[in-house]
Amino acid sequence: MANSPKQHGGNILAVANELGCPVAALLDMSSNLMPLPMVAGLRETIIERLDEIAYLPETESETLRDLFAARHRRKNDEVLVGNGTTDFIFAAPNLAGLTRAVIVDPTYNDYRLACDWAGLPVSGFPLAAADDFHLDLNRLAATLAGGELVFLCNPNNPSGTITPSADLHAMIAAHPETLFLVDESYLQFTREASLLDLAPLPNLLILTSYSKIYGIPGLRLGFLTGTPARLAAISARNKPWGVNRVAQVAGEFLVTHGDAHVEAVLQYTATHRPAFVAALAALPGIEVVNGVCNFILCRLTGAMRAGALRKAMLAHRIIIRDCANFTGLDDRYFRVSLKDPVGNRRCLDALTKILTPS
Ligand SMILES: Cc1ncc(COP(=O)(O)O)c(C=O)c1O
Repeated sequence: MANSPKQHGGNILAVANELGCPVAALLDMSSNLMPLPMVAGLRETIIERLDEIAYLPETESETLRDLFAARHRRKNDEVLVGNGTTDFIFAAPNLAGLTRAVIVDPTYNDYRLACDWAGLPVSGFPLAAADDFHLDLNRLAATLAGGELVFLCNPNNPSGTITPSADLHAMIAAHPETLFLVDESYLQFTREASLLDLAPLPNLLILTSYSKIYGIPGLRLGFLTGTPARLAAISARNKPWGVNRVAQVAGEFLVTHGDAHVEAVLQYTATHRPAFVAALAALPGIEVVNGVCNFILCRLTGAMRAGALRKAMLAHRIIIRDCANFTGLDDRYFRVSLKDPVGNRRCLDALTKILTPS
């Protein structure tokens, strides 16, 4: 399924099958998951409450929803819990009254796929590689006429660049006729304030994913925050029991006990990211895009293409993300993610072997 619109990083089970090797033999630099071991206490909580899979899950994940709402000083009807934020990415383009979507490129591919499936026309808003894909909010604002759904990923996947939340908030407040969906899946990897901590706005929807920061993409758990009316419109079309009981149990634990883990991830990233990025940038034929995230977008400057590099890395049992299928990028771009020190070293050694001219 190379370069299909549904292709993501982190498909380690599929790669293990393809290569005929155990998952444990693979180093997955393609997924943007936090690099630390499982959150302390999560395994025990799940095991302790595993018998609850004998019940139907709460229909609206009410307990978890209310905990999340209280935590972020929102009312209970201003939050929805979903089967990953993916649930809401695919729901939002179906909201009534939208004329088109605006998608900043390059960004997370599923926004465009979701709009295509909903039949919502898309206008791309390309960012410049020369400027490290920096988002100029004034330039974006000048294209808005009202009626749009604007997808903003902050920090952005795959570039890793960030827009200050206060600037975003001011721009969203100044454009009440446009609906903004801000995806904060990677915000907790930075010390930037969340839009959840700023005043609610009627034309703002915020996505919070637990997949990456808590390393639980297999559970599927995400949140949508916005106005009660818009959330009611989305939840009216939600399938019943869309969030499974184990995910609800895990979420209740993480929303109340997850802070120490997030702080540990922040400290790990601050300690290990700079040296890893510097080592990547020092490799022959690689330029690094200047971002802030746990993942790093790289550009090949020689003859090697990202698809060939991915193949060569797989021979070392290492998965990298070939970024050629991101609108706005091409076959020179690949992405790797910060892992534990042994993994980072293994990745750098393999890249060195492949990229150093013999
Ligand atoms: C920017 C972004 N948003 C959303 C998602 C989907 O995450 P989930 O549905 O697991 O919350 C991803 C996953 O890679 C992502 O990178």
